[in-house]
Amino acid sequence: MFIEELIVIFFFFLNQFSGLTRWLRKKKNKNKNKNQKQQQKMFHTVQYQPLRLITQNSLSKICLKLMFSRLVTFERISKSWFSSHSLIGNKNIILMGPPGAGKTTVGRIVGQKLDCPVIDIDDDVLERTWNMSVSEKLQDVGNEQFLEEEGKALLKFSASGSVISLTGSNPMHTAGMQHVKRNGIVVYLDVPTMVIMSRLKSMKVDRIVGQGPATSLKDILQFRKQFYKRWYDVRVLCGGNMAAEVVAEKVLDAVKRYQNSEVETYVSTRSTQNNSHKYFSDVVVGGLASDGGLFVPERGLPVLTAEEWQTLIGATYAERAQVILERCIHPADIPASKLREIIGTAYGENFTCSKIAPVRHLTGNQFLLELFHGPTASFKDFALQMMPHIFAYCIPRSCNYLVLVATSGDTGSAVLDGFSRLHDTDKQRIAVMSFFPEDGVSPIQKSQMIGCQKENAWSVGVKSDFDFCQTAIKKIFTNSDYTGYLTVEYGTALAAANSINWARLLPQVVYHASAYLDLVHQGIIIFGDPVDVCIPTGNFGNILAALYAKMMGIPIRKCICASNENNVLTDFIRTGIYDLRGRKLVPTFSPAVDILKSSNLERYLHLIADGDGQLLIQLYNQLENQGHFQLQKDLLEKLQQNLVAGWCSEEDCLAAIHSVYSTTGYILDTHTAVAKVVADRLQDRTCPIIISSTAHYSKFAPAILRALKITEIKQNPLSQLHLLSSYSPLPPVHWGLLATLKKNENEGHRVCAADLS
Ligand SMILES: *Cc1c(COP(=O)(O)O)cnc(C)c1O
Ligand SMILES: *[C@@H]1O[C@H](CO)[C@@H](O)[C@H](O)[C@H]1NC(C)=O
Ligand SMILES: *[C@@H]1O[C@H](CO)[C@@H](O)[C@H](O)[C@H]1NC(C)=O
Ligand SMILES: *[C@@H]1O[C@H](CO)[C@@H](O)[C@H](O)[C@H]1NC(C)=O
Repeated sequence: MFIEELIVIFFFFLNQFSGLTRWLRKKKNKNKNKNQKQQQKMFHTVQYQPLRLITQNSLSKICLKLMFSRLVTFERISKSWFSSHSLIGNKNIILMGPPGAGKTTVGRIVGQKLDCPVIDIDDDVLERTWNMSVSEKLQDVGNEQFLEEEGKALLKFSASGSVISLTGSNPMHTAGMQHVKRNGIVVYLDVPTMVIMSRLKSMKVDRIVGQGPATSLKDILQFRKQFYKRWYDVRVLCGGNMAAEVVAEKVLDAVKRYQNSEVETYVSTRSTQNNSHKYFSDVVVGGLASDGGLFVPERGLPVLTAEEWQTLIGATYAERAQVILERCIHPADIPASKLREIIGTAYGENFTCSKIAPVRHLTGNQFLLELFHGPTASFKDFALQMMPHIFAYCIPRSCNYLVLVATSGDTGSAVLDGFSRLHDTDKQRIAVMSFFPEDGVSPIQKSQMIGCQKENAWSVGVKSDFDFCQTAIKKIFTNSDYTGYLTVEYGTALAAANSINWARLLPQVVYHASAYLDLVHQGIIIFGDPVDVCIPTGNFGNILAALYAKMMGIPIRKCICASNENNVLTDFIRTGIYDLRGRKLVPTFSPAVDILKSSNLERYLHLIADGDGQLLIQLYNQLENQGHFQLQKDLLEKLQQNLVAGWCSEEDCLAAIHSVYSTTGYILDTHTAVAKVVADRLQDRTCPIIISSTAHYSKFAPAILRALKITEIKQNPLSQLHLLSSYSPLPPVHWGLLATLKKNENEGHRVCAADLS
């Protein structure tokens, strides 16, 4: 009994207190100093939280009281600890980057601003140790030996409370770097290689350390990047024309952010107080806020300057993702090095196109952003190849988690696939269960979900629609009797992987930004030119990510929201009235947007209402109780500045697929076709428009066959795909999908009634 109580208390803390997940995870990490700080910090933020879950048992209360009295003590310690330290305390700021990045110049300015010693490894350490200039030494001993001696000199060096400018080659010596990093924050001055080349040229440098006679300067600079990426704690993006003064300011800002792990907090859209801060880790694990709202970053999203964005024009998808996500996720939650590992796994080998999210010209001013090259052939893979790894990193090592998802079709397979790719140890403690409308998904989607079941991933068909599945999950989450039971009986907590989870949204921001940068890269626009985007919208996740990309500085003019005949959202965006009364969900050819309650819209309303939680409570209570709400006029105008909406009939959808195929040989999926029709209708052709192609047409083969007027429709999904394939369409049939379908023809799944119990 007592053990059970402890488990309950443990989970209670886990779910209630901001910072706890971060802290428990940190505890496992080796860094002792930080650990102590985190611990103090965690206790510092938790003490006044209300008790919600477990109050019925007096034994728990006693235990909680005991723990609280300890928290208060920690609180005092932490206050005094913080007040006695300046920005860096006795740590160093270590500037790292290629030759010509401006480490020395920037280092001097930063030193001046902080009023602390400045050490240049070249001049102050190496030349003094060797009693000769670096270039003399290099001539003396040669490349290999030079790196070795340089590393040795670094190992002997120590400093504190200083700004240190490394040499360009220091990061190539592992032991030396481990030594300096121990007492410092490594700041990477990330300057585009082309800029470095031209700077070195004007400085009349034509060879750098490590460059043999056969290698070009460009190659060696590219080669070096892997070492820089290995060591940095924070990155400063430096554009070509940025003054050293500006870079120095950025360095200080980046260090401040790094040092202040409490600054980036999240609140519920329905929060009316200003004291329930959560961190990224809490929000990933928590999914939905306890008041029924959705988590949003309290101070909005970070903004990148045009100059910073432009450094990403030539970058790969993974590099763009890295830079954008580093800005959105505090390193205390996920350090840059871990993020790189996660991004590498997510967008490494499992996308069938090396560009991950390629942009393709369709016709006139229309471009398609192909988001279906992931393993389960819809855009959901972008978030769900990544989110499970983020989740596994954010949860404490000692807990089990059951992830619940409601799906209108494509999420199911993407979630199952994503979570089944976790490392084996994570699979033992993280399982996922996906609920889908048994009769509301296409036969191929269903086969796919069944085929993606693994030892830690199951699918359940529900005899109802998507909205029921989603509402049921929300109710399960807020049923403390049930969650308490799972905790006590199974040591297991619940989590959500729906598009309401913040970790699902963030990776989606990346491809909207990436698409814009690709158009710049292809010379279709120059950075700063406007584009429109048009997105088939259901739960408002994908289009919200585009709105976020806009807020972060991508020059998107309008986001065009495309619905099918379930057009509640279109009506809302046009009139400000969200009205579910008398509406029934109509099954369509584009089932992934057959949604009436568009969850993520709440986040956008919160944004335009300047975080007015009271208003959000009122609107959503009204929706719940009376089936409708109306947005006031000023907010509607604000909303319409960014959003335009239209809807497409079933007939028009199929006609668009037919006409695009007959004019270009390209097959649109049914959702993409909905967007194409709306884009044709609503866009004024004064700027390019990027249409999100959210799924591969193979997933909706029967509708496609019908649209293309291919009469011989066979029942079996696999033979439908073979039939489509025989037309050699563009793009070819999705092979990952074929593989899944081949595999699972005989497997089964559970079906249950539309009954919450
Ligand atoms: C999920 C899905 C959508 C809807 O995306 P939201 O983010 O919910 O608006 C659109 N198209 C396809 C193919 C999908 O799978
Ligand atoms: C350093 O080198 C100079 C000549 O290059 C020499 O005069 C001087 O004595 C040397 N100093 C030491 C400490 O070796
Ligand atoms: C909440 O507090 C932060 C600073 O702690 C402040 O910037 C913000 O404006 C406050 N928000 C509200 C709604 O009071
Ligand atoms: C996915 O990537 C992993 C390695 O990250 C690889 O082992 C696996 O075969 C890939 N699967 C597919 C379907 O590409």
